[in-house]
Amino acid sequence: MSNTAPRKILVTSALPYANGAIHLGHLLEYIQTDIWVRFQKSRGQDCHYVCADDAHGTAIMLRAEQEGITSEALIDRVSREHQEDFARFGVAFDNYHSTHSEENRYFSELIYTRLRDKGHIATRDIEQMYDPVKGLFLADRFIKGTCPKCHTDDQYGDNCEACGATYTPAELIDPVSAISGATPEVRSSTHYFFKLPDFARFLQGWIDDDHVQPQIRNKLMEWFESGFNEWDISRDAPYFGFEIPDAPGKYFYVWLDAPIGYLASFKNLCDREGIDFDAYWREGSDAEVYHFIGKDIVYFHALFWPAMLHGAEFRTPTAVNCHGFVTVNGAKMSKSRGTFIKAATYAEHLNPEYLRYYFAAKLTAGVDDLDLNLEDFAQRVNSDLVGKVVNIASRCAGFVKKLGGGRLSGHCAQPELVARFIAAGDEIAEHYEAREFGRAMRKVMELADEANTYIAEAEPWVLAKQDGREQEVLDICSVGINLFRQLMVYLAPVVPAMAEGARAFLKLDSLDWDSRQELLLDHEIAKFKPLMTRVERDRIDAMIEASKEDLVEEQKLKETPKGPLTDTPIAPEIAFDDFARVDLRIARIAKAEYVEGADKLLRLTLDLGGETRNVFAGIRQAYAPEALEGRLTVVVANLAPRKMRFGVSEGMVLAAGDDEGIYLLEPHSGAQPGQRVS
Ligand code: 2FM
Ligand code: ZN
Repeated sequence: MSNTAPRKILVTSALPYANGAIHLGHLLEYIQTDIWVRFQKSRGQDCHYVCADDAHGTAIMLRAEQEGITSEALIDRVSREHQEDFARFGVAFDNYHSTHSEENRYFSELIYTRLRDKGHIATRDIEQMYDPVKGLFLADRFIKGTCPKCHTDDQYGDNCEACGATYTPAELIDPVSAISGATPEVRSSTHYFFKLPDFARFLQGWIDDDHVQPQIRNKLMEWFESGFNEWDISRDAPYFGFEIPDAPGKYFYVWLDAPIGYLASFKNLCDREGIDFDAYWREGSDAEVYHFIGKDIVYFHALFWPAMLHGAEFRTPTAVNCHGFVTVNGAKMSKSRGTFIKAATYAEHLNPEYLRYYFAAKLTAGVDDLDLNLEDFAQRVNSDLVGKVVNIASRCAGFVKKLGGGRLSGHCAQPELVARFIAAGDEIAEHYEAREFGRAMRKVMELADEANTYIAEAEPWVLAKQDGREQEVLDICSVGINLFRQLMVYLAPVVPAMAEGARAFLKLDSLDWDSRQELLLDHEIAKFKPLMTRVERDRIDAMIEASKEDLVEEQKLKETPKGPLTDTPIAPEIAFDDFARVDLRIARIAKAEYVEGADKLLRLTLDLGGETRNVFAGIRQAYAPEALEGRLTVVVANLAPRKMRFGVSEGMVLAAGDDEGIYLLEPHSGAQPGQRVS
């Protein structure tokens, strides 16, 4: 392969949203991609790996608002956090960019205008739920209400978690905006659509052409048969994103500019390093382009994306490589079980390379879910990496130091054995290339077993006790070190930090694939240091506990969006008896009404379980009256009645709030009106 020109390869992983932490579910993909990229680089290919934060959309805008910062400040912070996490896990992008970048604006506008000029964009008015308090159109997941089929409360958007019914948000009973609590209105607005059906024939051919795995192809064919709709690519202001060139107040939907972020990040790299962008992206390019993604976002990557690229006269991807989801101990990652593990939390407790190896050992080219069984994880890492691979070097290094003065034997005592290890590299390379990492790891561990068997049978430690057999011992151990070196070449894409340690120990310039051909004879090696230590079970337990604590922290953060402890100092201490004098009761809001002439107040009729109270509450900005009726809250029941301009207020409801918003306190379901809160 060294005589052929290197392949030009561009690789991407999905762009993570800029409003949340990287967790183990994400890491499967980045680790899978990074291993493949490192393998390609080891083989001497011209391979570039780019990614970016997916920085646009309503969720990011609202999150920033909730934190009291600008969207730009949020995405900057999250991008730094993401990059730190990736670096800890050895995920080595050649470029990490943002979809909120000039390159991305340029390509989004370019692709859109090319599609528009060729007639692939349509406009029409659609009706949508609108939050009159927030002044926002509401995506389905931001609307809650009672299921029209089974009447379960508090169901999101378009499907019921209780009975599985699907419906439109307009069919929900008593819909409310999940953002403000207001009752949404139906409003009409003009939307822009990408005419996906124009590309049906093209896509049919593309899907049949081996660009996706067989299971994915089947899924795509099902979608095909049910027919395509035009894709709504616009969102109304306010929206954090790029304004559509000929449409003031309309923004590109985040999913339009997200995949274009692949081009943008690559362009940014090309400009920095003088790479020819067009050589990779023009139609008919001989470069290879691979997207690694999760199976949940196939629709965007295997239908919309190739169609957009084709329509805008760019080449389409060589392949879209899908993977399954991560489960932990056989179940979906769960916050309460502590198995929803963030990358940073993992890295505080365990060596990231354990996880890289474990994922590699279980990865296939398919889309099945991958279970991180924590028992098996510890056992496999300890037995394979520590027990098999590191063991070879640690058994041999001491004798090389003692008997060879740190220099390997000048001749190879087992040329056939070493030659077989070198030859095995071809098969292992095929597995890597095909993303059958599990097979590659099995082959490497078979070789490791062989190396250990060779050393065990040769018993250098027995010979070392016999006079005059020093050279023999040095020969055996030099074979051992040569075999270890072969294994580290094969493992380097998976465990780069361990491989770096091995490279330093072996005093080599590189562990690239081809370098393995040359034996290490009469070659000096460094003092051996343990290259990997065993997984300790108590570290795993500590990680699970810490993940449970992450959840508690997160909930606190949700409840206290602006860090009120720093904004509002805690009031002077009171005695318990002072507190006990306040009689807090659960109340049901029987009725809520606007108060004429008062723009902050609502009049609440509260049911305290047998007693009715009239209370004025300053929550009008945050709640539409209809949204409150029927809800439970907490009321100070023994507050002296206060005469106000609009009437007498007989108590006070509890709410949290500041300039950013007001949040009525609500007990957990099951509380009964009249119950005392203590
Ligand atoms: O699903 C997600 O997390 C998206 N942020 C992935 C975007 S991938 C690409 F299209 F940008
Ligand atoms: Zn239901």
